[in-house]
Amino acid sequence: MVIKNSTDLEKMRIAGRLASEVLDFIAVHVKPGVTTGELDRLCHDYITEVQKAVPAPLNYAPSGYKPFPKSICTSVNHQVCHGIPGDRVLRNGDIVNLDITVIKDGYHGDTSRMFVVGEGSVQARRLCEITFECMWLGIQAVKPGAHLGDIGHAIQRHAESNGFSVVREFCGHGIGTKFHEEPQVLHYGRPGTLEELSAGMIFTIEPMINAGRREIRELADGWTIVTKDHSLSAQWEHTVLVTEGGFEVLTQSAGTPAAPGLQH
Ligand code: MF3
Ligand code: CO
Ligand code: CO
Repeated sequence: MVIKNSTDLEKMRIAGRLASEVLDFIAVHVKPGVTTGELDRLCHDYITEVQKAVPAPLNYAPSGYKPFPKSICTSVNHQVCHGIPGDRVLRNGDIVNLDITVIKDGYHGDTSRMFVVGEGSVQARRLCEITFECMWLGIQAVKPGAHLGDIGHAIQRHAESNGFSVVREFCGHGIGTKFHEEPQVLHYGRPGTLEELSAGMIFTIEPMINAGRREIRELADGWTIVTKDHSLSAQWEHTVLVTEGGFEVLTQSAGTPAAPGLQH
């Protein structure tokens, strides 16, 4: 959406903060032995009972999809995105993306982080860290007059120069009173191409980066996306506002990991 007034913006800031606070809350529960279904239940109860907000994924049904059956997405190891919480037990060394979208007062906040369960391998930790940097390089390309292609290019360049690949089939998205809307924010591309950014636009940046090849496939559950070659995949997501001076990250809370110190 494009912000029209300060009331709109204040409500988007609140929704963004709440989504991020769900991740702060759940972080201590992500440890060996917990199931993804337990993480979902804890988040669902926190969102509905403490935050008095609505978990946007629950029963979300874009055209061509059956309703998503849970309140958060949990994507483990070679699962790229849209993993459905269930009986799966997290083990030492797993990596898991928790993707939270809340609706508060009609406005959406959408954010995700990677968690390493116990001690992860060097390769798994590196994939999570490079993907975090990819998200931030995309965010730092945001300012009025820049183009969507600048964001995609910054992400693709960093992923591929580290030997990883960018998933093409899913992208960031405009967000506001709707969960997913225009524009599409591709995580690959060429500088100076696609739509020009202007102050007031709000969209997510949520790169999915694979340790192996970029190809994906969908599981028979109709939602879960996995890497075709079963290589590990990571994702981070923030909801971002274009400001006169550059950008403002709306999905921020006390536990939000600080932006990386990137040397470029
Ligand atoms: N939160 C995801 C995104 O970043 C969308 C999840 S749709 C769901 O866009 F139905 F799977 F929850
Ligand atoms: Co999103
Ligand atoms: Co999301």
